[in-house]
Amino acid sequence: MTIDLVVMGLGHVGLPLARAAVQAGLTTAGYDVSGAVVTGLSEGRSHVGGVADADVAAMLDAGFHATADPAVLDGAQTVVICVPTGLTPEGLPDLSAVVDAAQAVAARLRAGMLVVLESTSHPGTTEDVVRPLLEQGSGLRAGEDFHLAYSPQRIDPGNPTWGVANTPKVVSGCTPLCAKYATAFYGRFVDRLVVARGTREAEMAKLLENTYRYVNIALVDEVALFCHRTGIDVWDVLHCAATKPFGFAPFTPGPGVGGHCIPVDPRYLATRAESQGFSFRMLAAAHEVLSRMPEHVVYRALALLGEVRGRPEGARALLLGVTYKADVADVRETPARPVAAGLLAAGVDVSYHDPYITEFTVDGRPLPRATKLRDALDRADVAILLQQHACYAREALGRARCALLDTRGKAVGSGVTLL
Ligand SMILES: NC(=O)c1ccc[n+]([C@@H]2O[C@H](COP(=O)([O-])OP(=O)(O)OC[C@H]3O[C@@H](n4cnc5c(N)ncnc54)[C@H](O)[C@@H]3O)[C@@H](O)[C@H]2O)c1
Repeated sequence: MTIDLVVMGLGHVGLPLARAAVQAGLTTAGYDVSGAVVTGLSEGRSHVGGVADADVAAMLDAGFHATADPAVLDGAQTVVICVPTGLTPEGLPDLSAVVDAAQAVAARLRAGMLVVLESTSHPGTTEDVVRPLLEQGSGLRAGEDFHLAYSPQRIDPGNPTWGVANTPKVVSGCTPLCAKYATAFYGRFVDRLVVARGTREAEMAKLLENTYRYVNIALVDEVALFCHRTGIDVWDVLHCAATKPFGFAPFTPGPGVGGHCIPVDPRYLATRAESQGFSFRMLAAAHEVLSRMPEHVVYRALALLGEVRGRPEGARALLLGVTYKADVADVRETPARPVAAGLLAAGVDVSYHDPYITEFTVDGRPLPRATKLRDALDRADVAILLQQHACYAREALGRARCALLDTRGKAVGSGVTLL
């Protein structure tokens, strides 16, 4: 049986992609190595924020199925690889999932197939890593027997405005013909395609997009540190600067960066550059500033606790919002973890409130969770707003009985201390 599309890796990227394809009428299946993911989806449960259970049910009704059996690749006209590209414990790029996925495709590659890599990685991954695996594993040639493309994913979890269909998509191919096939494929469910000169340009464009955020967040964080040192209100500075209608893109300071894109992707760029004898000094400087931010939050919180309680030992700190992003149930690489660890190390009694996260561990130990915000604010000595979830209303925070350290510039009130 032939099938239009098999999505490999049904996570934050793969599942919304599969949904968009199904909605556009493509016969679609999903392949994932996780039994839990496959079982959940097969039973109509979504594990990805922004994709509702009802969406999965509609996908299943339209013929979508998820499987851990690579035989599903046999009938695929197009395979899109959306597997994770994280870091090793040493902090180096980990391409093992991409390699595994490419090997699985290679074993079942047929003439005429289109294979697209969407995972974020350094320039050269499609040509130098995926292509040889596919060619050696199948005996077929990219650009001659099958088509190989790279198209970075731009999904913004929790964004209600920009989704797969209306976000312009960069597409590239190993050959112009490969790019043409990839363009024809994505054109079936993406409104606007931008064709890159080659796969390296598309890979680099994705890294530039996320590195741009990384460096600019580091810049405003450092401005915030300087403003604190010199008694300048950084939030007013940002408010004023953001009124410039041209040449200035606003970014806001915070407790550090999280998720598995913004802190991770620059490592791919820096490591690749180093291997080619090039040193990205901007990345090193940004990394240094960003990794200091949780420490700064701890320092500021301890100073506040000192004012309120005299000493940090036994004082109660409440973390508000432990996810890496507002209104998204994801704690990967969240700066809330080093903040909690720093406070615990100082003897502070730390708990958290987050409507999206039922269990939050720090150094392997679960942190006590508060479910009633008002009561938790009454009990705490200091609350630290780490993430601006919609449930943290500005006025309610401002009226909190405890002192509030606001790392997001959101609250107003006499007990509020801004980062
Ligand atoms: N999450 C985002 O916001 C985002 C945005 C843009 C780009 N990206 C990039 O997209 C890629 C995927 O990220 P994600 O957030 O969807 O990851 P994820 O962890 O949410 O999902 C990845 C899925 O792939 C599965 N998987 C792992 N190895 C596999 C294999 N060999 N074969 C089949 N399935 C496999 C996992 O079980 C998991 O379900 C990464 O390169 C990431 O950097 C992510």
